[in-house]
Amino acid sequence: MFHARDAQASPPVIRREDYAPPAYWIDTVDLSFDLDPTKTRVLNRMRVRRNAEQPPQPLRLDGDELNLARVLVNGQGTSFKMDGDQLVLDGLPDEFDLEIFTTCNPEKNTKLMGLYLSQDTFFTQCEAEGFRRITYFLDRPDVMASFSVTLRADRKRFPVLLSNGNLVEQGVLEDGRHFAKWVDPHRKPCYLFAIVAGCLAAREQRIVTESGSEHLLQIYVRPGDLDKTEHAMQSLMHSVAWDEARFGLKLDLERFMVVATSDFNMGAMENKGLNIFNTKYVLASPATATDVDFDGIESVIGHEYFHNWTGNRVTCRDWFQLSLKEGLTVFRDQEFSMDLARTASARAVKRIEDVRVLRTVQFPEDAGPMAHPVRPDQYAEINNFYTVTVYEKGAEVVRMYQTLLGREGFAKGLALYFERHDGQAVTCDDFAQAMSDANPGSTLALHLDQFKRWYSQAGTPRVTAVGQYDAEGQRYTLTLSQTCPATPGQAEKQPFVIPVIAGLVAPGQGDLAVSLHGGEPATAHTLVLTEPSQQFVFERVTAEPVPSLLRGFSAPVVLNQDLSDAELLALLAQDSDPFNAWEAGQRLLMRQLLAAVTGAGDLAAPLQADAVAALRSTLRRSDLDAAFKALVLTLPTESYLAEQLADVDPQRVHAVREAARRQLARDLAADWAWAFDEHEDNGSYRPDPVSSGRRSLAGLALGMLVELARETGDSVWPGKAYQRTKDAGNMTDRYAATAALVNAGHALAQPALTRFHDLFADDALVIDKWFALQAAAPDRGGDALGRVEALLRHPDFNARNPNRARSLIFSFTGNPAAFHRTDGAGYTFWREQLLAIDAFNPQVAARLARALDRWKKLAEPYRSAAHGELQKVAAHPSLSKDVREIVEKALA
Ligand code: ARG
Ligand code: ZN
Repeated sequence: MFHARDAQASPPVIRREDYAPPAYWIDTVDLSFDLDPTKTRVLNRMRVRRNAEQPPQPLRLDGDELNLARVLVNGQGTSFKMDGDQLVLDGLPDEFDLEIFTTCNPEKNTKLMGLYLSQDTFFTQCEAEGFRRITYFLDRPDVMASFSVTLRADRKRFPVLLSNGNLVEQGVLEDGRHFAKWVDPHRKPCYLFAIVAGCLAAREQRIVTESGSEHLLQIYVRPGDLDKTEHAMQSLMHSVAWDEARFGLKLDLERFMVVATSDFNMGAMENKGLNIFNTKYVLASPATATDVDFDGIESVIGHEYFHNWTGNRVTCRDWFQLSLKEGLTVFRDQEFSMDLARTASARAVKRIEDVRVLRTVQFPEDAGPMAHPVRPDQYAEINNFYTVTVYEKGAEVVRMYQTLLGREGFAKGLALYFERHDGQAVTCDDFAQAMSDANPGSTLALHLDQFKRWYSQAGTPRVTAVGQYDAEGQRYTLTLSQTCPATPGQAEKQPFVIPVIAGLVAPGQGDLAVSLHGGEPATAHTLVLTEPSQQFVFERVTAEPVPSLLRGFSAPVVLNQDLSDAELLALLAQDSDPFNAWEAGQRLLMRQLLAAVTGAGDLAAPLQADAVAALRSTLRRSDLDAAFKALVLTLPTESYLAEQLADVDPQRVHAVREAARRQLARDLAADWAWAFDEHEDNGSYRPDPVSSGRRSLAGLALGMLVELARETGDSVWPGKAYQRTKDAGNMTDRYAATAALVNAGHALAQPALTRFHDLFADDALVIDKWFALQAAAPDRGGDALGRVEALLRHPDFNARNPNRARSLIFSFTGNPAAFHRTDGAGYTFWREQLLAIDAFNPQVAARLARALDRWKKLAEPYRSAAHGELQKVAAHPSLSKDVREIVEKALA
């Protein structure tokens, strides 16, 4: 089945428009596993029925790396064919029992898809197409079946046996083995199937929900990790309560289990009733996890729990619809975290952090060779489409429904979606239709087809705003226009529906209450841009305003707006929308950094005095939260700066940003010292937004002060930082202090790192931080690559563990000045690591392959060097289809 193009064929492409319903349905599946690390036997008995709505055709079952022993139809041996990896059965009755017996080798499963072993425990990962590595099946999300599962394994070695649903029977067998039988009361697609078997302990919590139902929540980890599960359990309890309170969505299982594994390709997986998590998103204690880790756990626990409705009760018809569940569920976990944050300021901080991810990761994706719509049209390997576009931009699209419909209208739409589609496998169109039908007459309903272009058109739209004030008529006319750049396969774009939340700020007066097109006066209006260009007229504008547009980042677009420095400073100080206040500061900093990069600015002091002064007064304000201040005082990232340039010299960008950091360290020296002393807490650790914000600002200040000490030769602040690496009461402070020394290249960094390693030698997640910290540190004199190569030989390094590979190799490729060397050695290192990993884990390799997505934007000599390495990868004889798809697109 190759659409062969040449001898080393490109992988076949699957197209959305080729979707056809399945030729058969599988109504029930009864699986029985004899678990053995090297040879697990799987007996799969299915009840199969021809789909009468499809033309008669053979049954084609998917398989991958299976050993097939036996196939029985209605209890009788039968003839079958193999077509590639598919098992093909012909001449079948309309309804029949199908029994398939296979074996597989979990120990050799280094791809971590299907059934694998991690620290002597069996785990499964089936999304997207891993179930076919367990047994032959119709491995597609629109085939939903009732599952029952019997697990048999050695009792001592694998005392805990888990699968989806309810435990209905368990007992002891001969030869030291035992068994457990699980029945899942909910029909599901096979990508939600899971089993776990091993030596695990559980934190348990019984809960009674708002509506009075009782449930058992369990978090399974290795026995020694039980004391690190409290935060995950709290987060899970909050998730259950929140989904019921906010959307009326109740837990539909008696038992809800979360299991942690240290070998996992992604963050976590929402298997029905048996979520499997990367330990990174479960385990936390104040001593071992940072505030960022605590927040990550809260949102990923929420995310997977919320999938129980958005993903599991209503699932995807096909994998092109992935954002139907992922965009919606990311939106839900973002809202969950914001609602838990409680204060308006903490909500804004969360929003800023989410937008920062979108802009530093998704915008580049949308402008590069892998650009694809939120609902892709084609793929070679679906795992390559678990992207920030499908997830984070998808979440922004869902957020726009809420912005257009209001919270209540959105909730009505979601309710109608479940009323119509509970138990079904559906499409993004079905979701859009429910939102619209639940809100007849709404702006969304009027422009639904146009709104749906957010699903079909790739690329980040540009919105340009031009305003004109008529003082006499007290009228302000705002012209908004939109364009969208071409993306691969999409030269021309049609206009989008873009909600722009707008306010008018009068310097010295704050928000003006103004009326739009003669309507009720208000301080904020939602302008809906649907045309290529449109005018909005505000009245009762009593003073010349500065427009505050796209408040809260109301649409995933680039806003071009010609504001003077003075106007940006006014917004930073006075905008009632904290997102836009932060945004104004970032625009000002960005402008000055870019001027320095392109040559006009001053490299010794890239920032202008008024910008520095504004940052100082923000830092000193008593009415702002520390977390918000830390965000305002953090310069735009190098990758976001690079995205603004046509021709990127990463070393130059790095030099400018570092110079600006040094300038801020110097010019605000007294203020940083004040900030550190003021925000340093020695009380007991709590991960709430207020105290974590204080730690974040204190950590930023300490980094600045240690940086400054490099220039002044001061030893007080490095000494304080070093002391803190020893006696910090929590990991956030300890990490920040260690990072301050490492990032400044201070002589105390090495002893601090050695201590850090010794203290946490047995804690894999902390050792990941130890690697990441060093791989992400600024390159001083070109030594970063050598440091990373040395760490690669460290006894604790193991590329087969995805977390560890990410902590060292991905942290290095994400460190622009270390990775982009004029001699190209960073790229050579990248190719070698990529090919090595691809040989055992294509999914992780394909993520690493993305590091050179933007090579065409690089200046020489980087560009040619990167191109050369990409070509070498493409010429490699045995690439996975995962990596092949990525490099072919990059080279196209
Ligand atoms: N559905 C999972 C989530 O919560 C992600 C699983 C992705 N797995 C994969 N092999 N691509 O986002
Ligand atoms: Zn998800």
